[in-house]
Amino acid sequence: MAIHNKSHSNSGLMSMNRMNKDCIKHKSSVEFEIPDYTNCLLLNQDCLEILSKLPDNSINLILIDPPYNLDLASWDTYDNYMEWAKKWLDESYRVLSPNGNMVIFGGTQFQNVRSGDLIEIIHYCRHYTKWRLVNTIVWYYKNGMSAHRYFANRHEEIIWLTKTDKYYFDLDSVRVPYSAKDLEVALKDKRLIPENVKKGKNPTNVWEIGRLNGNSLERVGHPTQKPLEIIRRLVRALSYPDSIVLDFFSGSGTTGRVCIEEKRNCIMCDKDIESQRYFEKHIKNMQQTNLAQPYIMSETLEGFFRNIKNNCSENQAIIYPERLLF
Ligand SMILES: C[S@@+](CC[C@H](N)C(=O)[O-])C[C@H]1O[C@@H](n2cnc3c(N)ncnc32)[C@H](O)[C@@H]1O
Repeated sequence: MAIHNKSHSNSGLMSMNRMNKDCIKHKSSVEFEIPDYTNCLLLNQDCLEILSKLPDNSINLILIDPPYNLDLASWDTYDNYMEWAKKWLDESYRVLSPNGNMVIFGGTQFQNVRSGDLIEIIHYCRHYTKWRLVNTIVWYYKNGMSAHRYFANRHEEIIWLTKTDKYYFDLDSVRVPYSAKDLEVALKDKRLIPENVKKGKNPTNVWEIGRLNGNSLERVGHPTQKPLEIIRRLVRALSYPDSIVLDFFSGSGTTGRVCIEEKRNCIMCDKDIESQRYFEKHIKNMQQTNLAQPYIMSETLEGFFRNIKNNCSENQAIIYPERLLF
């Protein structure tokens, strides 16, 4: 169903300009204008191709879960991993806005000289780039593979990189509520600020979130699909409504789905054509929840930026969740 509405103010660009001009860092998302709908794009291209077309400083959050040469699938094999990774790390630095954030999923799965991992990425960023490392988040889960020749793995890491120290971070949007008993204790703790205590706890940099089991209802068929909950926490804390999020190893499109639900614009790229089918399944699942929000699916990068700049174009269909149509 095509619904045209050209009456919106251009809040996306306004927010972006405001962030860049004022060097905003710690802001709560409630201070931003919430858009009526957001824009989404999924391209089947090589990541370096899409990165080369993006303007400097144009992206607010880059969220990626790259391949690491683990031979998990045909897409997971690179002869010289770091030579390749350096290219997208450098391009990411160029396209990220000065207040922006980048998060990279990975682990320390050193197995042989060909494998890539977060240690190699951190080493490159530390010694050869201007990236700053803000946090290493440990994603801990209780469900995983068993092992007999080593301790069974129960964690992965996510590194959070920024270009400057004026990065956007909305802690309030991801605070974890205290239990009634802990709240009572925390409110008596003189070292803590009562207003913050009432908002909830800092989730810390160790996150316990279950991995998706084979029979999880979230599953759309991608072998390394990430849980919505972990992507949501990153999107909420490190981007703001109507900002632009980029995931150039988007896989099933978990990032795109969360961005629609959280009112962020999202550019996704995956060289596997199957990613379209996975994303359709994500959208179908989303439509069955009350988190679904209206969005526009652009077909080209030019169209995506045009929609953000001019709001909805003449022929553009806003896809409304069914629950909002009645
Ligand atoms: C670990 S998966 C991402 C999974 C995703 N986070 C999700 O929740 O579904 C990595 C993805 O990178 C894609 N990929 C690998 N090399 C690529 C390249 N050079 N350009 C674009 N995509 C690539 C693969 O097709 C794969 O879907």
